[in-house]
Amino acid sequence: MPRPEDFTAFSSCPDRSGTGSEKWDRWAGRDVLPVWVADMDFPAADIILEAIRGRVAHGVFGYTHDPPGFAPALAAHLLARHGWAIDPGHVVGTPGVVTGLALTARLLAASGDEILTFTPVYPPFLSLPGLAGRRVVRVPLAQTATSWSIDWDALEAAVSPRSKIFWLCHPHNPTGTVWKRSDLERLAEFAARHALALVSDEIWADLVLDEEAGVRHVPFASLDHPVARAAITLTAPSKTWNLAGLACAAAIVPEATLKKRWRAAGGGLVPMVNPLGYTAAEAAWRHGDPWRRDLIAVLRRHRDLVQQAVQKTPDIACVPAQATYLAWIDCRGTGAADPQAACEAAGLGTSDGREFGTPGFVRLNAACPTPRLEEALQRLARAFARG
Ligand SMILES: Cc1ncc(COP(=O)(O)O)c(C=O)c1O
Repeated sequence: MPRPEDFTAFSSCPDRSGTGSEKWDRWAGRDVLPVWVADMDFPAADIILEAIRGRVAHGVFGYTHDPPGFAPALAAHLLARHGWAIDPGHVVGTPGVVTGLALTARLLAASGDEILTFTPVYPPFLSLPGLAGRRVVRVPLAQTATSWSIDWDALEAAVSPRSKIFWLCHPHNPTGTVWKRSDLERLAEFAARHALALVSDEIWADLVLDEEAGVRHVPFASLDHPVARAAITLTAPSKTWNLAGLACAAAIVPEATLKKRWRAAGGGLVPMVNPLGYTAAEAAWRHGDPWRRDLIAVLRRHRDLVQQAVQKTPDIACVPAQATYLAWIDCRGTGAADPQAACEAAGLGTSDGREFGTPGFVRLNAACPTPRLEEALQRLARAFARG
């Protein structure tokens, strides 16, 4: 069993202070270890850095639309990783998955219409509908000690004639749940019955930790169902290869009329993707899999370290993530009125569960060198030490 130290790409990382790092600037000047926003402290893969250097050497950075290799690289990647054959003609470059979600709110629903989504969830799922003049309808997931699952009764109870879209986060941030094929099929049936469009955010799809144990990501749109064939999928290389600052994502929009209206739905506010982002994405999808596999081995070990630490700390709990590098920690048993404040007071900069629609939780990002994670876990224990 390799240890993380064997993967030198993941054993150290550059100092990010002074680079405008959102993650590291939040508590700058204080002894608070940032384990919040979902980027990794690891440098990008050499294969991607080389591709960017090559593009920089070209020297011209004019207005750029999807380069010819972009959609075929994504299509080849999706086929190789997930067995999903897409038509590259359905792909449209987008400067972020969040931007893509915001566009779907405008394309697929009218003012005052409802967008359904499961909670807890990545905060923009909750804020974007309102920003577009649509309404978010929150459907709480069901929780047991070992899993998060869909509460189908709650879902049926939440839908109304104004409901137009279901936003699926798959795999799910923050719980790390990989939705099963049977969940997806039932969701497709539900959407068909209520005439909902389905949008699936699959930005975490390449960070499934338990593939060897049979946990596989099934792209929603790969299902043999009319709702799936019309579904919009949003994806990006940014989580897996740590490229968020390069602002390059992709929407897979099978319906030609919607694809045509995609850019216009931005109302002039959405810029084109930048050329370096395209180059990095293409390199990641074409050549990034060996690096990704090494990363998974590290993240799996980190997930286990988090679980061990949680089990040793009284009154907190965490369903082990099947995907992502996030841990969604249930602190309600501690009696802490403000778990986020308790973490910060112990020198740990987590994400606050309230922003995900669920108070009493914090989210911890484990994508950092192992010694830093170990320090973070000591601080977590200190935050909730009894007495
Ligand atoms: C589920 C999910 N979607 C989208 C994003 C952000 O995507 P982008 O940076 O491409 O807007 C994140 C970032 O953490 C995420 O977790």
